[in-house]
Amino acid sequence: MQSNSKELVLDRQTIQNRVLEMGEEISRDYQDQELLVIGVLKGAFIFMADLIRAISIPLATDFIQVSSYGGGASSSGKISLVNNPNSPVKDSHILLVEDIIDTGLTMQWLVNHFIDQGAASVRVCSLIDKAERREHQTNIDYLGFAIPKGFLIGYGLDYDEKFRNLPEIFHLILETD
Ligand code: IMP
Ligand code: MG
Repeated sequence: MQSNSKELVLDRQTIQNRVLEMGEEISRDYQDQELLVIGVLKGAFIFMADLIRAISIPLATDFIQVSSYGGGASSSGKISLVNNPNSPVKDSHILLVEDIIDTGLTMQWLVNHFIDQGAASVRVCSLIDKAERREHQTNIDYLGFAIPKGFLIGYGLDYDEKFRNLPEIFHLILETD
């Protein structure tokens, strides 16, 4: 039988403070540009909601959905496009918002996808960098937290579509007995 326990990694205040700082930095950097913020579904939806409210300049929002993880905690190693944004991408300044970068496969694919479509610029904002399993080189322009390892849940991050609603971020500990 499998029973799960969790250990707190980032509390609400810590997340909120960092998100506010990131919003300020993004607002400064894009002062003179038209910004299109594209969230990577589903994991980024909670972070993105807080982040855009911390950005003080005008911006447009959209979402993209790709799938790489089958359902559990391990990657399938392949990316497929599930939903493309409706917004015009050509000549836009795009900020990709992601919950977590693990192997880097998803983000590398996404950056290339938007460059191929003629974006004027593509930058990456990720709440978490889990560098231990990095296989595909990815530049993170705006990073919330570096958390080297473990499987994380909460604040949008799921395990099998569950736990996204937790306001804090936890390490999920899978125990088999
Ligand atoms: P990558 O392609 O290996 O970088 O994986 C990126 C995607 O895998 C993220 O957008 C998440 O959806 C998912 N993922 C990776 N690590 C975790 C984790 O610790 N918790 C929840 N989802 C994860
Ligand atoms: Mg994700």
